[in-house]
Amino acid sequence: MSAAVAVLISGTGSNMLALLDAMAADGFARPVLVLSNRPDAAGLAKAAARGVATAVVDHRDFRGDRAGFDAAIDAELTRAGAEIVCLAGFMRILGADFVTARAGRMLNIHPSLLPKYPGLDTHARALAAGDVVHGCTVHEVTPELDAGPMVGQARCAVLPGDTPDLLAARVHGLEHQLYPAALRRFVAGEREPVLLEG
Ligand code: GRF
Repeated sequence: MSAAVAVLISGTGSNMLALLDAMAADGFARPVLVLSNRPDAAGLAKAAARGVATAVVDHRDFRGDRAGFDAAIDAELTRAGAEIVCLAGFMRILGADFVTARAGRMLNIHPSLLPKYPGLDTHARALAAGDVVHGCTVHEVTPELDAGPMVGQARCAVLPGDTPDLLAARVHGLEHQLYPAALRRFVAGEREPVLLEG
């Protein structure tokens, strides 16, 4: 039986769709749940339209109770039988206990060439630094933000005239290639990183 994958989102869910499409195309894994912390996340309807189960754990119901938020997500993942969790634009930080319990079974995609630019505003920071190469990283999730072992990276040139929005759009396209390739290799147990050039 192929690996059961849950995808956690907060918004558009274009990376989530790339993962669902890749899993549907060659069956290396199967999506068992798409979960959002925001009830209005556009990705929820897109997942449902593909016949994938969806759930919402609204972080606003857990103000000041991070452990409760994590426990509610954990309950949904357990109910769905998720073995691997992919964070795909999930904009909440998960607690160390939650992350540690899923060590080696949770991935994230980040729009920079980690270890450069963990956190937010990665495209603007790459431009401000004068970088000539930028890109995105899929990594295992560890309690330290955007710092776990690298599973894959995709690079592209920074072009003259690039703005944060232009660069973000180019990197976003790369993300949709990288995440499925990285997940495929991860579930196969191959530990050589996926390296793509855009
Ligand atoms: C992506 O840029 C991803 O790298 C970051 O959040 C964004 C999510 O975009 N973590 P989408 O919702 O997958 O379109």
